[in-house]
Amino acid sequence: MTTATTKDTKDVSRDSKIPAEQRPELVVTASNKPVDRAQADCAWVALFSTAAGVELTMPARVVDKASGGAIAKLLKAGDFDGKLGSCFLVRDLNGIPASRILLVGCGPKEGFNEKAYAEAVRSATRAMASLKGVKRVSSFLTELAVGDRSGDWRLQVHVLACREVLYRFDRFKTRKDGKEAKPEDTKAGAKTAKASRPEAPSLTAVEVLLPGDMRPTDAPRIISEAQAVANGIELSKDLGNLPPNICTPSYLANTAKGLARQFRVKVEVLDKPAMEKLGMNALLAVSQGSAQPPQFIVIHHNGGIAKDAPVVLVGKGITFDTGGISLKPPGDMDEMKYDMSGASTVMGVMHAVAEMGLKRNVIGVIPTCENMPSGTATRPGDIVQTMSGQTVEILNTDAEGRLILCDALSYVEKSFKPEAVIDIATLTGACVVALGHVNTGLFTEDDGLAQSLIQAGRDGLDPVWRLPLEEEYQEQLKSPFADMANVGGRAAGSVTAACFLWRFAKAYKWAHLDIAGTAWKSGAQKGSTGRPVGLLMAYLRAERDNS
Ligand code: BES
Ligand code: MN
Ligand code: ZN
Repeated sequence: MTTATTKDTKDVSRDSKIPAEQRPELVVTASNKPVDRAQADCAWVALFSTAAGVELTMPARVVDKASGGAIAKLLKAGDFDGKLGSCFLVRDLNGIPASRILLVGCGPKEGFNEKAYAEAVRSATRAMASLKGVKRVSSFLTELAVGDRSGDWRLQVHVLACREVLYRFDRFKTRKDGKEAKPEDTKAGAKTAKASRPEAPSLTAVEVLLPGDMRPTDAPRIISEAQAVANGIELSKDLGNLPPNICTPSYLANTAKGLARQFRVKVEVLDKPAMEKLGMNALLAVSQGSAQPPQFIVIHHNGGIAKDAPVVLVGKGITFDTGGISLKPPGDMDEMKYDMSGASTVMGVMHAVAEMGLKRNVIGVIPTCENMPSGTATRPGDIVQTMSGQTVEILNTDAEGRLILCDALSYVEKSFKPEAVIDIATLTGACVVALGHVNTGLFTEDDGLAQSLIQAGRDGLDPVWRLPLEEEYQEQLKSPFADMANVGGRAAGSVTAACFLWRFAKAYKWAHLDIAGTAWKSGAQKGSTGRPVGLLMAYLRAERDNS
């Protein structure tokens, strides 16, 4: 077994050969120039598909008229059907200052909703990927009506959808051009970094049409708030995508300390002796098989007035979950590097609220450690006394998330008088079985809080689905030797996990989000999704709970 050294916790991106991510800033501005006056490398205009053919939106009609019917002509030739997700590029149209026009398919007008709007923006952004000559685009997609969504909403979602597509994570590839790395690219002394620097995405500026119901003076604030949310999402994705030899508990603690240097947030990190003193024995039991020291991170954003009760977010930070002595099967075990996605969500939200200066008190709490098998690891059958005083028989060391969270929930009770507490955790495989990769599982006794989170999911295009939290399920957690067991059998696995946490969250209004199915994607699109940063930002920025 290796011991932790400072090198283990260092981002290898700072080593000579592995460059940090090169992500040029995307500059977004709003303007009310019509499309026949917009100077850009490409202008995006929307079209709907209809039973009879294709319907032009207003900007598309302006282009058609200025160009002497060029759009009508290509539609008549059957070159473009307006399907959602499809785009068609036209070059050098007479009467149009932009060098290219991108026709963006939006599908049938009747079905054009929030999701379709975001997808149209994403597909237009994707269409720019291979166009080396396109640096500045001018988008007219914000003029589309999306139910009764405001111009603010359309502008924000536009920014977020562009940023989502432009995100990449290739710092560990020595060639960034999609080609196979050759041995000579990486041999000692080779100027690898220079020779194989990524060709930065050409698109660096988007000028968006100012929505009709918006004042020009409001646009910069809306755009910079959306940029702050996008930056929070990207931080969460980066942390999730980093390999587990780099993204350790200490790396997360250092990232939090970095937030304190960058913004006006206060960060405290409790080390193992401090956790022992507080009696966080459940958390320590999970950590004890690992060479990496556990960390307990607390981040304060004091954006509200002092007497305002804070919203506390608690994120599961298992930087790698082997299962411990109850070892997981080897297939896809690498994906357990994402078991800190609750923590990365909290970090991303704290980044976003700090950057936008949200006028609310928000506290992020991150219990973080590794779950490893070793001679010092917890055994199935071990009994620990949690910080709350309740005892737990650890029947399965792979049900570790609830063990680190229960002590964090007790810490919150001891330290704060919260308005609401929300924990975020890749807690159960059973939640993936129940809800797949579409909805995050939501558990709460509080109908007002549930309603607020469900609405935030709709606003932020980051949906949740409520599952039951009821006393009847507590039966399954009975233990003959301790106050409870840490597992409740196969039936309703996500519900019994939530019920376990519930026993430690009685002192305040509380909700639990199980993100096991939504925090990352496997397969060809493998990677962190940044969810549910968007959901929580929509929640924090909306009205208070309507309970
Ligand atoms: N981190 C896992 C949950 C998980 C599994 C997330 C698969 C995403 C995909 C968690 O720590 C775990 O191992 N849970 C067990 C609980 C069981 C032992 C009661 C599970 O879901 O199998
Ligand atoms: Mn586990
Ligand atoms: Zn886990």
